[in-house]
Amino acid sequence: MTTQSKQDAAQAAQRAAQLRAQLDDANYRYYVLDDPTLTDADYDRLLRELEALEAAHPELASADSPTQRVGNTPSGTFAQVTHVVPMLSLGNAFSDEEVTDFVRKIVERLDTANPEFSVEPKLDGLAISLRYENGRFVQGATRGDGATGEDVTLNLRTVKAIPMTLRGKDWPPVLEVRGEVYMPLAAFKTYNEKALKDGGKVLANPRNGAAGSLRQLDPRITAQRPLAFYAYAVGVVEGYTLPASHSQTLKKLRDWGFPVSAESGVVAGADGLLGYYRQMGAKRDSLPFDIDGVVYKLDDYAGQREMGFVSRAPRWAIAHKFPAQEQSTVLEGIDIQIGRTGAATPVARLKPVQVAGVVVTNATLHNADQIARLDVRIGDTVIVRRAGDVIPEIVRVVPEYRNPDAPQWQMPTACPVCGSEIVREEGEAAWRCSGELSCPAQRKEAIRHFASRRAMDIEGLGDRYIEDLSDLGYLQSVADLFKLKLEDLLEMKRRADERDGTTPETVKAGKVATKWADNLIEAIDQSRKTTLERFLFALGIQHVGENTSKALSGWLGDLQLIRRLPWPVFKRLPDVGGEVARSLGHFFDQPGNQQVIDDLLERGVQIADTHLPSPKLREGLNLATLLVDMEIPKVTKIRAEQLATAFADAGKLRDAPEHAYITAGLPADSAQALASWLSVDENAQLLTRVGGALKQLDALTPAASATSVGVLDGKTAVLTGSLAALTRDEAKARLEALGAKVAGSVSKKTSFVVAGTEAGSKLDKAQELGIEVWDEDQLLAFLAQNE
Ligand code: IVH
Repeated sequence: MTTQSKQDAAQAAQRAAQLRAQLDDANYRYYVLDDPTLTDADYDRLLRELEALEAAHPELASADSPTQRVGNTPSGTFAQVTHVVPMLSLGNAFSDEEVTDFVRKIVERLDTANPEFSVEPKLDGLAISLRYENGRFVQGATRGDGATGEDVTLNLRTVKAIPMTLRGKDWPPVLEVRGEVYMPLAAFKTYNEKALKDGGKVLANPRNGAAGSLRQLDPRITAQRPLAFYAYAVGVVEGYTLPASHSQTLKKLRDWGFPVSAESGVVAGADGLLGYYRQMGAKRDSLPFDIDGVVYKLDDYAGQREMGFVSRAPRWAIAHKFPAQEQSTVLEGIDIQIGRTGAATPVARLKPVQVAGVVVTNATLHNADQIARLDVRIGDTVIVRRAGDVIPEIVRVVPEYRNPDAPQWQMPTACPVCGSEIVREEGEAAWRCSGELSCPAQRKEAIRHFASRRAMDIEGLGDRYIEDLSDLGYLQSVADLFKLKLEDLLEMKRRADERDGTTPETVKAGKVATKWADNLIEAIDQSRKTTLERFLFALGIQHVGENTSKALSGWLGDLQLIRRLPWPVFKRLPDVGGEVARSLGHFFDQPGNQQVIDDLLERGVQIADTHLPSPKLREGLNLATLLVDMEIPKVTKIRAEQLATAFADAGKLRDAPEHAYITAGLPADSAQALASWLSVDENAQLLTRVGGALKQLDALTPAASATSVGVLDGKTAVLTGSLAALTRDEAKARLEALGAKVAGSVSKKTSFVVAGTEAGSKLDKAQELGIEVWDEDQLLAFLAQNE
């Protein structure tokens, strides 16, 4: 080795040691002291630096390096480990009397008046034993049968709460630490939410999560599981004298780098124990982990030795259990709840059952996939679990009690609130009600969106008024906004004040403030005149944002046309994919939504910029492309073209016998797939509608050459000042419809500026740059000529 590379290596070793110390310290602060100092990002940065160093200098690699926590390659099987000091179990107490008995026996045998106990939460996870030699973690094992367990060292290395090296200097040269590996509730919840979203397997409960994770043969999987650890005892200890009591030993463990529950403590006598039990019972639901009871241990080691053991449990310790968090009951029904954004969530209706002190009547089933996975059926006996403040859930079915005739559950097709169709998007776990505008469950959200600035822009219609107007029955749908009268608003306000007990003094004195109501009525009235783009966006159709609304408006131009089109036609527009197109189709298929649109128009909503479809629509609008857009199995582009050539229109194609598709050139399997697709009524109807839409659009859409659309292609306009006959949005939309780009500021690239009254600096700038300026009359004349 050259002097240089020796120096390099020495420097690398020094830096690696420094990084390891920093990372270990960060873990200690996070897991033991609960006082993190490094951010996640900083931790990752240091870890990556260490990884890079170890990769460049393989001689630095070490099994207890923090880099090894990501999980090593699988080992195949678990070796057996004999526990020299057996891992015992605990006797259980379920009542206060059993606890008093336990204390009484100790008092009698040891002849002490008021013995002290170490009291600890009984964590619900998996017991393990960790062996350290000369301060380094060398082996970790499960409890197994108490005498022999399994070697899960590689998996335990991935648990960041377990120290790989002991802190300080004052530790036993050989030390076994016992404790519980568990999964914190928040981590369990996040893990399951992600699993549900990704269609993966959910963990039944945090305990199974911890146990299953540790028993993974591939440590890389364990590394992805959010596990934690608490130490609660020692096993073999060599070359060291422990303190005289258990609680002092726990303090030592903490100093050496082990997490010890902050909930543990020392109390005296039966009263002390029962007090602790009640205190923890009250806290149970707010703890960040599951506990199934508390553990009492005689604190003094000498006393422990004197008490000894009976079979495999100590006489000096006992577990005092809480009521179980899992209970069995009967699933009486599955209700569908519609959320404010339309998500349909199945909720289990249960025969009421006490679970950990609370009567449970409902449990979440998350979504339809989860029901399928659990295969729960109405009438099943199910295991319900509630933990912490998590919503109770169904963990599993007891198959032995299943009525063999019980049918599999299926998501209903109609929304229980409004009757609109419940649909599911491809590849998604969630189902949703498609009655966006008419569904009372979605009403407030729909109104909020409808009135928002970028939609109908109703100024002054805040959340508070939306709440009150809906709750007090003035608004059944967005269309009712345009029915509101001044008296309604004042009446609403009076009733809301009365309900909340907030009637202002002025009102009591007979004076009623009406200005706000005048303003709101005025704002609603103003909003009546709108553009197609805003109107479509305001409808709040799932996946239809401003860009899609703009495309629909620009390409199709007419609400009356758009609201009747079959969904495949929407796929012809740029940037509209299958998901958006289907969502539009579902929306307009719901009679409730159509009714609201009718109501809106009837109540004076006017779309100012209705125009004919863009001639550009003609490109690619034919039977062949639409057949492809319909996503018929085995009907590819080539097959669609063959069909379009052979059949004059969609109706002929629909009514032809299967062999005619073969004559058209289709291979037998495609012909069969098409025939069987068409045998579904809904599909045949869709094809009929597509055929009709093709004819209608063909008749309606101007030919490219015969139109003035595009006269402003490549031109950039800027609007300034206010116009009398048009709103700014309208002017913008109409100029855009003719091909112009409408920009916000004047530059050399500006082609012309439209200046209304009170035009300001933009007009000055245009004049300065010598750019053409139109007044409103010129604009109107131009539009009249060219539209
Ligand atoms: S002490 C000789 N302390 O309970 C005493 N156990 O039934 C040995 N457990 O397998 C155990 N929290 O998994 C002890 N603070 C605690 C505990 C605890 C949970 C579990 C452990 C053990 C079982 C005993």
